[in-house]
Amino acid sequence: MFDASHLRKVGVSDLRSQRWYAPDTIRAFAHRQRTQQMGLNREEFLGKPVIGIINTWSEMSACHVHLRERAEAVKRAVWAAGGYPVELPALSVGEVMVKPTTMLYRNFLAMETEELLRQHPIDGAVLMGGCDKSTPALLMGALSMDIPAIFCPAGPMSSGKWRGHITGAGTHTKKFWDQLRVGAITQHDWVELEGAMTRSIGTCNTMGTASTMTSIADAIGFTLPGASSIPAADSRHPQMAALCGKTIVDMVWHDHRPSKWLEKGNFLNGIVAYMALGGSTNAAIHLIAMANRAKIALTLEDMEAVAREVPVLANLFPSGDRLMEDFYFAGGLMALMKKLEPFLRLDMVGVTNRPVSDWIENAACFDEDVIRGLNNPVIPLSTGRALAVLRGNLCPNGAVMKSSAAQPSLLKHRGPAIVFDTPQELSERIDDPALEVTRDSVLILRNAGPVGAPGMPEWGNLPIPKKLLKDGVTDMVRISDSRMSGTHYGTCILHVAPEAAVGGPLALVRTGDIIELDVAAGTLNMLVGDEELAARRAAWKPVHRTYGRSFAALYQQHVTQADQGCDFDFLQAGEAVPEPHIY
Ligand code: FES
Repeated sequence: MFDASHLRKVGVSDLRSQRWYAPDTIRAFAHRQRTQQMGLNREEFLGKPVIGIINTWSEMSACHVHLRERAEAVKRAVWAAGGYPVELPALSVGEVMVKPTTMLYRNFLAMETEELLRQHPIDGAVLMGGCDKSTPALLMGALSMDIPAIFCPAGPMSSGKWRGHITGAGTHTKKFWDQLRVGAITQHDWVELEGAMTRSIGTCNTMGTASTMTSIADAIGFTLPGASSIPAADSRHPQMAALCGKTIVDMVWHDHRPSKWLEKGNFLNGIVAYMALGGSTNAAIHLIAMANRAKIALTLEDMEAVAREVPVLANLFPSGDRLMEDFYFAGGLMALMKKLEPFLRLDMVGVTNRPVSDWIENAACFDEDVIRGLNNPVIPLSTGRALAVLRGNLCPNGAVMKSSAAQPSLLKHRGPAIVFDTPQELSERIDDPALEVTRDSVLILRNAGPVGAPGMPEWGNLPIPKKLLKDGVTDMVRISDSRMSGTHYGTCILHVAPEAAVGGPLALVRTGDIIELDVAAGTLNMLVGDEELAARRAAWKPVHRTYGRSFAALYQQHVTQADQGCDFDFLQAGEAVPEPHIY
């Protein structure tokens, strides 16, 4: 567990919470009085580390619905370790129910986490989440606050099966939807699937954004080693939650805050795991934002460099054909990291203050089909990567794709553009029999980026036109300034920066322009002359809606572009905010 060697132990008077509780003042009297109002005796909280459990539990997020119960396990262990646990509810950002997109609210939860920790007498935090944006948001907030913090991942849901077929959340929903659209399954089948596909509490059971981000958090060192792989419904999950409670108390007594252990090497380890997992493209945005909060410079190029070396080893949907529960039984993330040893910085430590070499010392792989070796990757580097970064006159500041989940024959492609300005236009026209589209066409959706949508929704997996689906076409080149669900697959080029709404070149492309993609060369261009582009730019006017009030207005005014992490400009690394004044 926690390794306290080489760390100085702090005293009670060093605890942040003592500023609220210890003084002989009328304010501190009120703080002690109001705590006792809740039925606690003085000796139950005075002089103890106060552990804030930031809980994203919500009945609008099936992925997090068990976190109230898990918080009880954390509390039990915090009490036993001599701490005082307090649960603080926070925005859930459950991926499926939140509209228009949870990405619009990632920064909201990051702000809420930071401010909840700052405004209260909290000495250390247990961060409870897991559904896509909740992981980066909680970590971004905790990093900005820089107090000891441990991440307790919600855990993936159990494996699903329907009539003998594996069903992975997200990945198979899309597959069955396409089958329904062309009559390959019936409406009755579709309704039956609705009740059968998601078998238990927990996050998506594929290597979607949730498991990508919780695994990255694990590989960086924000969790107990291997915690991200434990299924939500497994009895070892509450056991892990309790160990988080015990560990955070140790972390507080040794002031083990992120700025004392987190280095760029931790992030590079996270990126190595990301690539070997065939993780979600969304991670490219979140990693940059998280590193920035820790005042660590991280770029798309850093990720691209790792992606060119580390092949996909985890045989998990959507790059492979197994589910998260299989991954856990095969040995989980630590078994994968053991196989990645040549790429890892083994001396990095995490929340336990133990080095990566310790985490993986006893790790073993129990299923070589699920966790492959470097000599037997799921997808060789020559065929596809978890992340390919593209540049060119369509995306001067970069675009990304998951080439490991694309049709290999499309990775070098030239075809005419069909441009959609809005998702509404896309829905209305995509299945129109009159749409002049062939399998070589390049479908483009714009004004779907951070500012344009706003919030950069997961619209980037544009549907294949029905008439092509009927001809057996299952993949096409698709380009957008939006994102794609980590559970989805296809030749989808995403995160085009700068986005169309701020005048990026994507705004200038027209239906019929020839688009040239070369993933091996890392290029994406429209074959349109500079003079013509200049004329189009002179005539360009933004078409996206601009919000005058609400959180959307704040978001549009301050969000950075995808290659910068989509954080708010005023929340990025900068001067530390002073502690609240208590008079
Ligand atoms: Fe929550 Fe997929 S919807 S993890």
